Amino acid sequence: MLSPALLSAREQTRHSLDLIPKPQKVEIGEGVFKLNSATAIVSDDSFNAKYLAGILNGSTGLGIREGGNKEESNTITLSINPESDIPQEGYLLSVTPEKIVVESSTSKGSFYAIQTLLQLLPPSVYGNPTGDEKWEVPCVRIEDSPRFPHRGLMMDVSRTFFSLDYIYRFLDWMAYHKLNVFQWHITDDNGWRIEIKKYPELTEKGAWRGPGEVLPSAYGSGNKRYGGFYTQKEIKEVIEYAAKRNIEIIPEIDMPGHSKAVISTYPQTGCDNKTHFISINGEVKNVWCVGNEENYKMLDNIIKEVAALFPSKIIHVGGDEVNMDNWKECSKCRALMKKMKMENPAELQNYFMQKVEAIINKYGKTMAGWDEILDGGTLDPSTRIYSWRSVRKPLEAVERGHQTVLQLSEYYYFDMKQSPAERGHNWAAIIPIERVYSLDPVESCNIPENRKELVLGAQGALWAELLNKPSRFSEYQYYPRTCALAETVWTNQELRDFNDFQTRLEKTHFERLFHMGIAFRVEAPGVIYKGNRLVVTLPYDWAVVRYTTDGSEPSCTSNIYTGDIVTFEPEKFRFATFYKDLFKSITVTADNIVPDYIKPETVIETSFGEQRSFPKSNITDYNFNTYWRTERTGVEGDYVTYLFKEPVKCSRITVNTSIPDIDLYGVTDGYVEYTYNGTDWIRGDDFADNSAVIVPQDGKEIKGVKIVFTDTTDALCVALQDLKIE
Ligand code: ACM
Ligand code: ZN
Repeated sequence: MLSPALLSAREQTRHSLDLIPKPQKVEIGEGVFKLNSATAIVSDDSFNAKYLAGILNGSTGLGIREGGNKEESNTITLSINPESDIPQEGYLLSVTPEKIVVESSTSKGSFYAIQTLLQLLPPSVYGNPTGDEKWEVPCVRIEDSPRFPHRGLMMDVSRTFFSLDYIYRFLDWMAYHKLNVFQWHITDDNGWRIEIKKYPELTEKGAWRGPGEVLPSAYGSGNKRYGGFYTQKEIKEVIEYAAKRNIEIIPEIDMPGHSKAVISTYPQTGCDNKTHFISINGEVKNVWCVGNEENYKMLDNIIKEVAALFPSKIIHVGGDEVNMDNWKECSKCRALMKKMKMENPAELQNYFMQKVEAIINKYGKTMAGWDEILDGGTLDPSTRIYSWRSVRKPLEAVERGHQTVLQLSEYYYFDMKQSPAERGHNWAAIIPIERVYSLDPVESCNIPENRKELVLGAQGALWAELLNKPSRFSEYQYYPRTCALAETVWTNQELRDFNDFQTRLEKTHFERLFHMGIAFRVEAPGVIYKGNRLVVTLPYDWAVVRYTTDGSEPSCTSNIYTGDIVTFEPEKFRFATFYKDLFKSITVTADNIVPDYIKPETVIETSFGEQRSFPKSNITDYNFNTYWRTERTGVEGDYVTYLFKEPVKCSRITVNTSIPDIDLYGVTDGYVEYTYNGTDWIRGDDFADNSAVIVPQDGKEIKGVKIVFTDTTDALCVALQDLKIE
């Protein structure tokens, strides 16, 4: 049931357009155009007409037909005139009570007019109609075209494998937001996911990780076989589907680093160094050997197939985060450095990139790479630079004459958390939606006027190592932040205003996202305790916040918050925002109530050694933000014992592993033990999601807690935390 407050808020939205991304020019007229079963679509582009009819008929059930005559009333005309001076992706949309007319110079413009038209209809036009809708379009005249030609999202399918079905839906969602580039990060250390006919083992072996596979398990895939890949036929179909929706697919074959999947499959492609230097992601043996000339033949064969498969003129070859120490010890790389009189291994990277660039150019394509490829030498000015490491990188790229696309980690890495307590990383920044919206890709990067055209646009990215938790994690991380990005790259800067955007988002666009089938992130309520009252700040005016009074997770049947709650036990309350009782925010307690954990003096006994930057002492200081990172991975027989100086009386001990609030480097295979007398150990729970809980028998004091490892953990180290004793 919708509360009255909710209904009236919805009512207010009826007459507002709330378009995202905001068009460049909107004039609101009088009256509405009513869709009915006699409405006809007259079009110069058969795909666009079918696309529009498909969506409209799917939701309205009106049986709107294609055909008819644009002179007649009750028509939607999609007229394309290549001679017109409307920009490539631009359109004019005019809605009167008699007819809807779209003008554009290309089918792309016409496609975007359709997206705007859909947003002018009730949100359930995208799916799940109630049957009570009025299928009416308010009269308007909209003149629109994008600010930037490159408006994208990047998806990492290597660390997490996404199904084809999901990718199709993802592309639809992009189209609804007028995004036009999908960067398919299709190879990386943890899985090669594109069929290469000449090297079938790349996917027969390199697409899989787990026991007995060439790739070890990683990122919580645990001790099961994990992976998958896309055949060239499947990729071709995805490319065609995307192209019809004006989305270019750019493949990224990451090299010379991030290549563990290749090197594990074909070990001769790697270097012969004896010391294995670790990449920033904790991988070893993941760098192509630059000095092995045979490698360029293999790369040529791979690129040849990629170039033939993808119509995009761009092939992205990564080039990021190479641990070049590997090259310093390799006999072939050393010999090449000597022969070429190179002093610095960065010059080897440049050598590699130039060779790859020549191969890519030979197949009629242009190279793109992350901003590291500018280090160590020059590249052809045609090479496109994807700036990620800092806001200074776009300027560096354009000053050197390269086109650049912004995928700045501090703004557009959607694997980052949206607030401190949420899932995700935080190494680049905490990235709430305001932060995504705040950046002007030109002004904020100090791009001079005469280099502006080299900034092609921006894209958001989800690096996918926090595997599949929660199950809606992809949508949770991408949306609604993608909506902010879409407006950044479409709408002229002078029209952009965060508060206005947020109002459109919350009033109407959330509803559209829901009907599009996107399980987007919902903002948690703010809760404080003052004067014996719990006071909740709703994240938006008509949000539904539910709560429990016994420390349990709120569910869609929990009480709805309607006003201050008087209590003397605020620590027992839990709150969450619900969207249509289907998905909810994280669960929160009052901000100013810190749980009163018991903090006994504790010593650690362990089979692990010390690690200097993240020392063992971090897990006995009861600072819950710091942690101990072991110097190696955990294997069967390893243990970590927490021994209490004095026995502890408590109701519950939570043994968390992994980096605090980030699901990385936890214990994947193991269990806990505990002791009442200091000698006899009682087996407790197995670790699940990096955690185990001990509940002692009533009144019994505990003398120690032990983590017992039963198998190899799936990262190069283990992260351990302080015990949470209640
Ligand atoms: C990157 O984040 N390594 C491009
Ligand atoms: Zn080498």
